[in-house]
Amino acid sequence: MSLDGKRIVVTGGARGIGAEAAAEMRSRGATVVTLDIGDGADLRCDVSDAGQVDAVFGEIAASGAIDGLLNNAALLVARKPFDEISLDEWDRMFDVNVKGTFLCARAAVRHMGAGGAIVNIASETAFSGSHHFAHYVASKGAVVSLTRALANELGDRGIRVNCVAPGFTPTPGAAVLGSYDPSRTPLGRVMEPNDLLGTFCYLLSDDSAFVSGQTILVNGGRFPH
Ligand SMILES: NC(=O)c1ccc[n+]([C@@H]2O[C@H](COP(=O)([O-])OP(=O)(O)OC[C@H]3O[C@@H](n4cnc5c(N)ncnc54)[C@H](O)[C@@H]3O)[C@@H](O)[C@H]2O)c1
Repeated sequence: MSLDGKRIVVTGGARGIGAEAAAEMRSRGATVVTLDIGDGADLRCDVSDAGQVDAVFGEIAASGAIDGLLNNAALLVARKPFDEISLDEWDRMFDVNVKGTFLCARAAVRHMGAGGAIVNIASETAFSGSHHFAHYVASKGAVVSLTRALANELGDRGIRVNCVAPGFTPTPGAAVLGSYDPSRTPLGRVMEPNDLLGTFCYLLSDDSAFVSGQTILVNGGRFPH
């Protein structure tokens, strides 16, 4: 799948899945701009801050329309029972994972024409209800629903919105989750970031020109959906 000539923004692109996705898209011909709250991205931006998001997308669009957005930035946190999650922890989770996804989609779409594509990242946990992870699980469920709503609204502008729900993937952010047992994964191994890249590129490319509103689980078959 070629991404030749496409200008794509990747949020949370300083490390982990976002950094690998950006490198893969560049290798397929895209011009990629990475955003991150921390060091190591092309531009600094807290995706939960509307002012920063609008400004940074305006800056990117000053040199040309935006063709694609990978809404990857999110908080991954250590597990804890749901009744020990503080209101601040709940709010920050939703600010980054849900509001951040909404704000970046809104800002990107202002600079996106027909043929544009947005890929949101949810998680297998939105379907499994993973243990001791309620605020993260609920935030990723909201990302799945937001994907459907945006696909509905943006179809008449020729913009597609899809979602990828990964299973556990060893990344710097996932280190807080500890080890993972792949014995219940039909494909029998722990996923690597590399396993996600083809699906991202497909959904951002013209090869998926009539696919919208979908969530694809990339998880070795662990939770069919
Ligand atoms: N690793 C996994 O097991 C796993 C499983 C399912 C889904 N996911 C999802 O995949 C995506 C990438 O996860 P990862 O494992 O690479 O995580 P990671 O923590 O290694 O990388 C996430 C990046 O997002 C950035 N970020 C966090 N908050 C931000 C903010 N407010 N504004 C801008 N950038 C911010 C971080 O600085 C970091 O560079 C996330 O959406 C995550 O929920 C990961």
